[in-house]
Amino acid sequence: MKSTRRELLKVGGRTILAAAIGRSGLEFGSEFEGEKGPKDLAKLKFSQPLRVPPILSPVRSDATTDYYEITQKEADVEFMPGIRTRIWGYEGMFPGPTIKTRRGRAAVVRQTNRLPGDTVVHLHGGVTEPASDGFPTDMIMPGESRSYVYPNQARGATLWYHDHAMDHTAHNLYMGLAGLYIIEDESEAGLGLPSGEYDVPLILQDRSFGQDGNFSYHAGRAGRIGARGAVMLVNGVSWPRFEVATRKYRFRILNGSNATAFEIALGNGRPLTQIATEGGLLTRPTECPSIPLAMAERTEVIVDFSGYPLGTQIVLNNVGGEGPKSEIMRFDVTREERDENTIPEKLSDWEPLDPKLAVRTREIEFGISMEFNIHPLIWTINGKKFNPNASLANVEYGQVEIWHLKNRKFGSLEKLHPVHVHLVNFQILERNGEPPKPWERGWKDTVSLGKGEEVKIIMKFDGHRGRYLMHCHNLEHEDHNMMARFDVV
Ligand code: C2O
Ligand code: CU
Ligand code: CU
Repeated sequence: MKSTRRELLKVGGRTILAAAIGRSGLEFGSEFEGEKGPKDLAKLKFSQPLRVPPILSPVRSDATTDYYEITQKEADVEFMPGIRTRIWGYEGMFPGPTIKTRRGRAAVVRQTNRLPGDTVVHLHGGVTEPASDGFPTDMIMPGESRSYVYPNQARGATLWYHDHAMDHTAHNLYMGLAGLYIIEDESEAGLGLPSGEYDVPLILQDRSFGQDGNFSYHAGRAGRIGARGAVMLVNGVSWPRFEVATRKYRFRILNGSNATAFEIALGNGRPLTQIATEGGLLTRPTECPSIPLAMAERTEVIVDFSGYPLGTQIVLNNVGGEGPKSEIMRFDVTREERDENTIPEKLSDWEPLDPKLAVRTREIEFGISMEFNIHPLIWTINGKKFNPNASLANVEYGQVEIWHLKNRKFGSLEKLHPVHVHLVNFQILERNGEPPKPWERGWKDTVSLGKGEEVKIIMKFDGHRGRYLMHCHNLEHEDHNMMARFDVV
């Protein structure tokens, strides 16, 4: 009975896709700046179950450390029913396997490159020594291996690991080189938050596909505006449905797309209960009608499905998204279950950083080269393009600084720049002269810098000394020079 139904869906999917390809000509799911994807794609929606990336097992462990091995390789993956797509994946998976570790236990990850291009691995959100942080020029050549050491001393949080190769990060991530890295924290154990199968990662990405079923990667207008796609993927499944019980769930949500910002909201109008940002738990839960997620931002929410009759379907919407991308996935309430989890009033204890502790404020401007009309276009930080050999800021170890980030107005080329700082977590002091938005009042490593916006962030530079990066997490902007090195001295 069950398998017959799955077969039917599969056949149905194939038929729908064939029609979509036929009607749209060259490509389906392609979405350049300003264009909309074919409407037929909407018929793919909610036809496949959500998949959850497997947890990677260490190859060995000792008293302090777990050792992992990952091979970066090509594989064929089914994102949409009956269509096979060539990917580049950690262990050949899209997204890569999840690394789950415990605060205080180190991890050593040996990465082997069996791909046709150079790669670099960065643990986004990690407090990592420079040699293991994935500096873009520290490439792993095809056929080579490199070990990365992650001490995991910082608080529990949802991080992710992804490619960071010089000039090729955007393409490499689009092909699939990204996975989750979860640090569990003892202090969470007593909180009674949903765990195990009720603690579910959702990696949001958009992709375009060519007629042959493979990705169709376009860096966007002028080759540098950003790659977007008309097909919405969650954990590598197009518009999945997820069968839930009448209880609470914890969702760890990552925007893993190259250049698309999302704003998540429940289709039934109920608020999301936010419990964490990039750097771990908030002090207390926050009710948010919707949560914007710029590229590389993470948020964690509790959704309570108790009280809904069986058969209820709730869509996770992308507020303001165009066409089929205005919806992300669907939750189907399919079974009754007792719920022993609670949402505690207090989640964790930490103090806001006091601006009086800051030794200086640096002005950092995200803009575009003055010769912008001379092709090619160059995204800049403080008027400069990325130079791996020059530091934009020398920060003294242990000191607190305020960075005043500005999105420089430049006519129609004004864009969203999600700003990411390696090594440190920061707090947002101000957004356009006002307090930060309700959903960004936690420890952060990426902040959305919208058109014409100004944001002040505060952080303490400790953990390690050496060379690090800050950059825009629109990956095409990053590859086209919107990146800067800073040194902790
Ligand atoms: Cu998520 Cu420097 O990157
Ligand atoms: Cu990072
Ligand atoms: Cu940018």
